[in-house]
Amino acid sequence: MTAPLISVRGLTVELGGQLILRDLHATIARGKITALIGKNGSGKTTFLRAVLGEVPYRGEIKFHCGHDHSQPQPRHIGYVPQKLNIDAKLPITVRDLLALAVQRRPIFLGISRSTQATLVAILESVNAPTSLLDRPIEKISGGELQRVLLGLAIQPCPELLLLDEPAASIDFQSSEAFNQTIVRLNREHGVTVLLVSHDLSVVSRHADEVLCLEGGVIKCHGSPREILTHETLSQTFGTDMSVFVHQHS
Ligand SMILES: Nc1ncnc2c1ncn2[C@@H]1O[C@H](COP(=O)(O)OP(=O)(O)OP(=O)(O)O)[C@@H](O)[C@H]1O
Ligand SMILES: [Mg+2]
Repeated sequence: MTAPLISVRGLTVELGGQLILRDLHATIARGKITALIGKNGSGKTTFLRAVLGEVPYRGEIKFHCGHDHSQPQPRHIGYVPQKLNIDAKLPITVRDLLALAVQRRPIFLGISRSTQATLVAILESVNAPTSLLDRPIEKISGGELQRVLLGLAIQPCPELLLLDEPAASIDFQSSEAFNQTIVRLNREHGVTVLLVSHDLSVVSRHADEVLCLEGGVIKCHGSPREILTHETLSQTFGTDMSVFVHQHS
């Protein structure tokens, strides 16, 4: 069994007086792509936010990072949220948004030539046109924004990448390139990926492990071959999934 990058024991999250995650136990394998699947409202986003330390929780979320697995925190966590938690009307261009993350000196002193080159490289790495740089973030499309956010999340290269339905607005043609970017980060740079997705064909093709969340607890954990079966999917989603299983078996 692969060593875990994250081990979670007894994770309980209560929001607005409601139990969202209930005594949840899970491990996220180091250097693998783990897909988190489950119905709307099952707690997937809340789980990622707990891993990020963004919601109060009881229980234990333990990291085993660094070469010798002894570091209690990842060097850097990349995160592409399901919803952007900033004012979408913020009058900021893609260039400034990226430069704020990349450049060490304040961007009101100007964006250096080396930062400019890095910004171009970031957009190219996520197959986004560099013409986006001058566009205000409120004027770019949902799919373009998701690519920019992925570019932001992988700069610098993270040890852990949390992706909450990152390709939800990406068109069919571009989504494969988007997924390949994630796979490349994992395979070539050893980035541990935790990916929330409703796209079971993406999960079946790219995930090494699958976690099913149901009502705030992990109902099953295994390889896509073990989990993406008629029986397990029907139990998780409460509907007949035989068409999907048939197409992908
Ligand atoms: N801040 C909050 N206060 C109260 N309830 C919340 C809060 N955030 C989330 N919830 C509730 O917690 C449950 C789980 O939400 P969460 O966003 O984690 O689900 P999800 O699995 O990501 O769903 P989806 O597939 O729709 O994105 C939902 O019922 C949601 O309404
Ligand atoms: Mg969600």
